[in-house]
Amino acid sequence: MDKKIKLSVEDVSKTFRVRGGQYSEDHLLPVLRHISFNVHEGEIVSLIGESGCGKTTLLRIVQGLIKLDAGTIRVDNNVVSGPGRDRGFVFQQATLLPWRSARANVEFGLELQGLPRQQRSERAQQLLKLVGLDRAGEQFPHQLSGGMQQRIGLARALAIDPAILLMDEPFSALDAQTREVLQLELLRIQAETKKTTLFVTHDLDEAIYLSNRVIVLGARPGRIKKIIDIPFTHPRPEITELRGDMRFQHIRAEMWDLIRSSSTAKA
Ligand SMILES: Nc1ncnc2c1ncn2[C@@H]1O[C@H](COP(=O)(O)OP(=O)(O)OP(=O)(O)O)[C@@H](O)[C@H]1O
Ligand SMILES: [Mg+2]
Repeated sequence: MDKKIKLSVEDVSKTFRVRGGQYSEDHLLPVLRHISFNVHEGEIVSLIGESGCGKTTLLRIVQGLIKLDAGTIRVDNNVVSGPGRDRGFVFQQATLLPWRSARANVEFGLELQGLPRQQRSERAQQLLKLVGLDRAGEQFPHQLSGGMQQRIGLARALAIDPAILLMDEPFSALDAQTREVLQLELLRIQAETKKTTLFVTHDLDEAIYLSNRVIVLGARPGRIKKIIDIPFTHPRPEITELRGDMRFQHIRAEMWDLIRSSSTAKA
């Protein structure tokens, strides 16, 4: 039986108007062209493509922060017309509120929802535990490492129990080792929460490791070059082990070719 569609992106196009400076005219910058795909319940789908191909723009359109020119976004079959609680977001920088403890950051969205204090506190504790930081709730953001801040950012996004999670290069500011730990953690958390996730990354290995499917976007204006099914079952072994698998190497080479063949970068 086919799984339920949680997110549908239907024929989305976006062109920015870019302001000219003193010596140049305004001009139009086509960024996304005819993007269509679905994300099914419980899936992690990654978007990859070279810098500037429109990955963040697409995520922000799904978030409802950027208006699309054409096309439709649906979450649980409801048309997206602006930001909403059905979508949780994790950015490259955790952007925690510096004057609030880790726990109070996780509780923030629940306060906005008007959840009573006791329930807020119980939910925050569950989430701190889920991200492995149940003993760091009283620390302030400046007392946490970059990896811990990203864990809190993830807990905050999950707190409101969104239908889908949108992640924009959440691990790219971390060192390689912390990054691998958090990739494993994300897989564990996703196995527990079954949260449907759309994940943006530059890192081909990360995309393959985390995803059920990877969408390769061509250079600007971003179009879908290919949607690749990742054949590895869950739970996945450590990434170092998976890298030794011939299928991993084959998929990686294919993605690299697809990105390189559409590159606008001049050597
Ligand atoms: N608000 C905006 N106004 C005008 N142009 C924009 C705006 N936002 C993004 N752009 C342009 O749209 C293009 C796509 O940007 P976007 O941030 O979506 O790329 P990206 O794929 O996320 O890149 P990266 O991998 O470097 O994060 C870029 O050329 C960028 O300069
Ligand atoms: Mg980006």
